[in-house]
This record gives sequence, C-alpha cells and structure tokens, in this order.
Amino acid sequence: MSILVTGAAGFIGSNFVLDWLRGCDEPVISLDKLTYAGNLQNLASLQGDARHTFVLGDICDRALVDSLLTTHQPRAIVHFAAESHVDRSIHGPGEFMRTNIDGTFTLLEAARGYWSALEGEAKAAFRFHHVSTDEVYGSLKPNDPPFTETNTYEPNSPYSASKAASDHLVRAWHHTYGLPVTTSNCSNNYGPYHFPEKLIPLIIANALAGKSLPIYGDGQQIRDWLYVTDHCSAIRAVLAKGRVGEVYNVGGWNEMPNLQIVHTLCDLLDELSPAASGKSYREQITYVTDRPGHDRRYAIDARKIERELGWRPAETFDTGIRKTVQWYLANQDWVANVLSGAYREWLETNYASRS
Ligand code: NAD
Ligand code: TYD
Repeated sequence: MSILVTGAAGFIGSNFVLDWLRGCDEPVISLDKLTYAGNLQNLASLQGDARHTFVLGDICDRALVDSLLTTHQPRAIVHFAAESHVDRSIHGPGEFMRTNIDGTFTLLEAARGYWSALEGEAKAAFRFHHVSTDEVYGSLKPNDPPFTETNTYEPNSPYSASKAASDHLVRAWHHTYGLPVTTSNCSNNYGPYHFPEKLIPLIIANALAGKSLPIYGDGQQIRDWLYVTDHCSAIRAVLAKGRVGEVYNVGGWNEMPNLQIVHTLCDLLDELSPAASGKSYREQITYVTDRPGHDRRYAIDARKIERELGWRPAETFDTGIRKTVQWYLANQDWVANVLSGAYREWLETNYASRS
C-alpha cells in the first residue's frame, strides 16, 4: 500500500510527508511541480529512503497522474498542491485558477477513473482527501460564532474563491460519481518550512535582517493559528476514520490579531537572539497600506473533528510559536537559500546526475 501526496514539497505537504514517514513505513509518492513555493530541500532528509518517491510534475497533467496511479496503485490521494498566497492571487490570479481549479478537476477525474476500476477491498478503502482552507467561508464580524462545516461559502479573494471552487468540485464528484472523498478546511498554519512570504516567517526573517516589519492596515485582523504538525495529525485522523463525503473544520482554538502575533515574535526574538543594537525588534514595526479586500476575521469551530475523530491540537500557541522561532534561528541557511533562489541551483545539482 502507498499514498500519493500532491504539493509535497511545499510548507504543509513536506511537513505531512516527513511526519508520515516518521510514524509509519507506508510508502509515499510525492508529486510536485516545484513552483517558487516548492522546495526539495524540505524533503532532503528523505534522500535515499526507499519509502519515498519524488515525482516532478504538474497536477494538471492528466497523463502523468494516470500513469502514477496505475504504476503505484495508491490507497489514497492527499491533495495539498495549490497556489496558496492571497497577496500573489491579487497581483496575478491566473495561476490560482489553473492549479487550484483545473488541477483539482484533473486529479478528481484521474482518481475517478482509477477508483472505478478497483474492486472489492481496494475499492472500498480508497480515499481522496482534499486539503482546504477556512478562507472559503469569508470574513467574520467581531461577535460572530466561529465557522462550522455548514457555514455558507463567501470567499473574498481570488485565492479563496479558487479554493472554494475546488471544494465544490470535490463535493460534486462524491455526490454524482460516488468518489470516496473527504475535505478538511483548516485555519492559518505556522511552523518549519513556511515560505517567508507569509506573515510569521516573513516577520522573523525581516527582524533578523534589520528590515522593517510590515503590518497591513491597523494590524487588528484576526486569524486562528495552528501548528503545522497538528494539521498533519488532523489529516491523518480524517484519512483513517473520517466519514466519506464529510467536511471537517480544523483549527487551533487560537484567535489572535496580527499585531499581537508580531509583538509575540519580537519578544521571543529579543529573548532568543537579541539585536546587536540592544533595541527591541518591536522598533522595526511599520504600518503599510492594507491588502485590498482584506478579510477581517477568521475563526474555526473544530468541535466536529474532536467529537467524531477524537482529534485535538497537541501544541498551544505558546509552545508552537517558540518551536517555530527556534527552528528559524537554527535554519537561517534555509531562509537564505529560499530568498536567494539558491535552492534552484541545488535542484539542478540534484537532478543533473539522474536520468
Ligand atoms: P505552499 O504554497 O507552501 O505549497 C504548495 C505546493 O504545491 C508547492 O510545493 C508547489 O510547488 C506545489 N504546486 C503548486 N502548483 C502545482 C501544480 N500545478 N502541480 C503540482 N504541484 C504544484 O502551500 P501550503 O501552505 O503548504 O498549503 C498547502 C495546502 O493547504 C493548499 O491547498 C492550501 O490551500 C491549504 N491550506 C494552507 C493553509 C496555510 O496556512 N498555509 C491553511 C489551510 C489550508
Ligand atoms: P498571510 O500569512 O499572508 O496569510 P493569509 O492572508 O492567508 O491569512 O497573512 C496573515 C495575516 O497577516 C493577514 O491578515 C495579512 C497579514 N499580513 C501583514 O499584516 N503583513 C504582511 O507582510 C503579510 C505577509 C501579511
């Protein structure tokens, strides 16, 4: 048995694959196009590990996906691959429509063909797990209850609209064709291998580089934050025990305004890696023009996954954010490579010797 993981070289995908192979010996086939956000260095510790196969390719390539399914006969597809950054979706939405919508459609069609031809136990056990976001539900007012799985979809950015479209496709492929799907909608993740264009790794990298720490608008926008390995354990729980056709909201019960996140990061850095100037990193905070259409608040009601599958996050925000800052301090080369594009050269080095 094996599983096929799309987007496995990205932030959450790589954490998921590393976590999976730490916990069991079931092989993983990783499919990733290695866009700017995909980084094989995230999976470097698996080099030479017979349980892991990396395939460079696009989820929109139907022939490739078909051949991977035929060759490896996975018992599940875990679908992370996506364009994931809201600000990029505002500057250039095209790639978001292609990967997030067309790509999910292609995978669903390939999965449907593969699953239809399976028989008996293999057919009954097969799962297509779709990894999605709380952003599909839109923006909450200060006193609104957190999002449940039955909230209406009100996506506001090109990114969330493309993810909402993909969720609807997954739902329809179950409803119409019986494809055994599950979906999880998760809040903002943080942790190791987070690409430094997103708030938390960007603030850490900029602080250490002596650059300004940009706060969009008034910094009072609220997100719920979940440590990435808790998201991975939630997906494993859904894969193992989730009911087919169901949606599970995943969150950390940890709503926080952006400014508070940035203050926390500055305080941790002041403690763990004080600036040579003796000044607090808080002094680098700068307010910048807000993101157009910026959602004010997201919050997740994660009671369904707790009630049905017994899942709860293992990390609190305090433990998770400290681990995250420590990881970035210990892995400043990773950040430097990503920012300099040096990991692309590493890719060439890695692939030059392969057929
Ligand atoms: P990421 O941008 O770090 O990684 C995405 C990965 O997908 C990259 O490795 C990229 O190379 C790959 N990819 C992109 N287009 C592809 C294509 N056409 N074919 C094959 N591979 C392709 O994203 P992430 O933060 O790891 O998010 C993973 C998934 O989780 C996404 O579906 C995202 O919507 C969802 N999600 C993310 C968060 C979060 O806080 N980051 C929260 C909830 C849900
Ligand atoms: P981000 O990490 O891009 O995730 P998302 O937009 O998917 O929630 O941003 C998290 C929050 O931080 C969001 O409200 C936008 C804000 N933000 C800033 O204030 N400054 C920044 O430089 C970035 C990248 C984000």
